[in-house]
Amino acid sequence: MKLTVIGCGHLGATHAACMAELGHEVLGMDSDMDKVAILNSGKAPFHERGLDDMLAKYTATGQLAFTASYAEAAAFADLHFIGVGTPQQPGTSDYDLSQLFGAVRRLAPRLTNPAVVAVKSTVPVGTAPRVRDMLHEYAPAGDAVEVVWNPEFLRESHAIEDTLRPDRLVLGVDAHHSRAEAVLRQCFGRITASGTPMFVTDWATAELVKASANAFLATKISFINAIAEFCEAAGADVGRLADILGQDARIGRHGLRPGLGFGGGCLPKDLRGFVARAEELGVGRSLAILREVDAINDRRRERTVELARRQLDGDLGGKRITVWGAAFKPGTDDIRDSPALAVAQKLHELGAEVTVSDPKALDNARKTCPELDFVADPVIAVQDADLLLHLTEWPQFSLVHPRRLAVGVSAPKVIDGRGTLDPVAWREAGWNFRALGCP
Ligand code: UDX
Repeated sequence: MKLTVIGCGHLGATHAACMAELGHEVLGMDSDMDKVAILNSGKAPFHERGLDDMLAKYTATGQLAFTASYAEAAAFADLHFIGVGTPQQPGTSDYDLSQLFGAVRRLAPRLTNPAVVAVKSTVPVGTAPRVRDMLHEYAPAGDAVEVVWNPEFLRESHAIEDTLRPDRLVLGVDAHHSRAEAVLRQCFGRITASGTPMFVTDWATAELVKASANAFLATKISFINAIAEFCEAAGADVGRLADILGQDARIGRHGLRPGLGFGGGCLPKDLRGFVARAEELGVGRSLAILREVDAINDRRRERTVELARRQLDGDLGGKRITVWGAAFKPGTDDIRDSPALAVAQKLHELGAEVTVSDPKALDNARKTCPELDFVADPVIAVQDADLLLHLTEWPQFSLVHPRRLAVGVSAPKVIDGRGTLDPVAWREAGWNFRALGCP
């Protein structure tokens, strides 16, 4: 099939490459010309495992190309995926839908043939009919343009695997149309043939299922982090507790990693957008629990700063602190709402000299936080530090033997904010070791 993907960020660029992998002819469209040039050279403008290889392969064969022109995109195919960003509106909990509506407004006047527009962006429930109305009003093809809601559940750093082998596919369709479902079934045929279930629902359910999934994942993380607070007060070990809890198949171990909490471009803003929309619809009370989920998550950052202050005898002024981690999680260079960087910035505000090390996210972090120091080598970054904070659990950090670090550090202190350093090895190497959620 021929198809386009409008919006080539993390979601869109991965989707475009994976659609080529499924055998389709794909044109990715993004209004950022620099991004288009990088993608056309067969590279991703961000770090995602395996994506460079896939982009290089399919841009070389011509099966995948990128453009900044809506006219080219509209002329290329009659199936258009939209994966533009829907960030949080600054100063509110609401979604900023301007990129989505902007894309629809620019595409619509160029749709002269019957077409299917499949939206993947995460939105507040009730957005699909607004997109349909705009398409029908502005497209010359009128109501022959159909809308499908096709939410995306991909995790950064597992984006290719999650796109090609998802747990489930969801199609939200308009009860009055059936062509769109058939087109999407054909498009995803190779995925469903290998056993992935496809759920066809109404629009509202498809919109809500994505937001509910993220709200549940966030709740699970904050639940274990609330227990971590309890463990610290009671002298228990939350890591061991989570291992044992996770053995219960009804609970499961996934998403139960205690620590500094969640960040990134999705969970925090989707949680807030979900609650804001529930309030608009008069059911905010039922979702009040999610406000606490957000508050628990914020408290992890405060708790880490407080623990650092205490480890440095109550005064951060002029103290040298090294932070291992800038990305919001390992495997990505994405620093959006990164818990590690939020803590680093706060420590700097409180007077500490902060040096940050990260295997992939330093360039992005440097642009956003020019007030911090950055050192690529985690061993060099720790030299002469009064305190080391481990805040993003890159495997590289766990592999550094603490004996290599003790040299040059006068009275070494470390706080493990992610529970993946080995306390025994660090203590044996002479470090004063603290971990979130442990006595
Ligand atoms: C998430 C959802 O998983 C995905 O389905 C959705 O489409 C987009 O949002 P992503 O943001 O890539 O994906 O990250 P994810 O791997 O879910 O982690 C989110 C955050 O939670 C990270 O900051 C991670 O460090 C944190 N986390 C995750 C924990 O603190 N504990 C856990 O057990 C799991």
